[in-house]
Amino acid sequence: IIRSIVRGTGSMLPERIMTNQDFAGVVETSDEWIVQRTGIRNRHVAGEGETTVSLAEGAARRALDAAGLTIADIDLIVLATTTPNNTFPASSVQLQQRLGMRHGFAFDVQAVCSGFVFALTTADLYIRSGMVKRAIVIGAETFSRILDWEDRSTCVLFGDGAGAVVIEAAEGEGTLADRGVLVSRLRSDGEHEKKLYVDGGPSTTGTVGKLRMEGREVFKHAVGMITDVIEDSFSALDIGPDDIDWFVPHQANRRIIDASAKKLGIAPEKVVITVQHHGNTSAASIPLALDRAVRDGRIQKGQLVLLEAMGGGFTWGAVVVRW
Ligand code: ACO
Repeated sequence: IIRSIVRGTGSMLPERIMTNQDFAGVVETSDEWIVQRTGIRNRHVAGEGETTVSLAEGAARRALDAAGLTIADIDLIVLATTTPNNTFPASSVQLQQRLGMRHGFAFDVQAVCSGFVFALTTADLYIRSGMVKRAIVIGAETFSRILDWEDRSTCVLFGDGAGAVVIEAAEGEGTLADRGVLVSRLRSDGEHEKKLYVDGGPSTTGTVGKLRMEGREVFKHAVGMITDVIEDSFSALDIGPDDIDWFVPHQANRRIIDASAKKLGIAPEKVVITVQHHGNTSAASIPLALDRAVRDGRIQKGQLVLLEAMGGGFTWGAVVVRW
């Protein structure tokens, strides 16, 4: 049976760091309010010349280096983003060009903050079908460009960045001991559209629009949705929280992460938390956290890693990977 194993990770953040203190003079807020409600201390904000595609390129090149591969080895690029450089062509195809890849194919996936989980699941299916041998899966975002910088309830929460993983086909036995993506569970439900959305778009206003969120409403649903889809994944593999070596959740909010881990019974020391460094980077947050935990030696080959995300739509999902 074919599995998609992880060969390497990479990430890239914009140069400019904006601290909580840097909001003085922008909106009425405080370091204390932001840290207490969200855990966020810094976020990176894209400057001139930095875009979703340029950040994705940096992350992809680093992931290729880590994998010991070149772009000639890759058949597929799946890029999760809600903030593409242009309405079209797809940012993934622009990235393909920048990487010098004239073979294979590339496309974007749009599932907001769950984008990386959806993209990884999609690439895994291409690999398991035998159509593709190696893929780069990327989450890249420049949410700073769709924020309402006069709305203190949203502009303090988000940041820009990109993360990537290279996956490749490998033979597995079809057991829990196999390396690779072992299970994915994806969900969406448009009932919740107005709780988290962008108020513009090409086919409605003809503008890009700004992010709008009812934070308390999102919070109310988040923990239940996240834990449901994780429990489904656990059942599919007949495992429990103690079998997981690392829990790498979407990094939106420290309180949502802590509450989810607690409800699931996952020990706090197994949770990878990076939200303090770069805020909510939407589809980029999981691969950014993965790259950090791989490079600092926490995530090791053979360990069981649980990924989870929830975002606008709502969309949500979980993936379990034997690293
Ligand atoms: N600084 C200071 N005060 C603020 C700020 C701010 N930046 N933002 C809001 N406030 C005020 C509000 O105006 C309100 O004041 P009022 O009581 O006088 O009206 C007060 O703080 C409380 O506001 P709430 O919105 O009720 O605060 P809450 O405790 O719910 O925290 C937060 C807000 C942090 C947004 C929280 O609801 C949350 O984390 N929600 C989840 C949001 C999230 O994570 N979304 C992303 C997940 S999905 C995805 O990743 C796309």
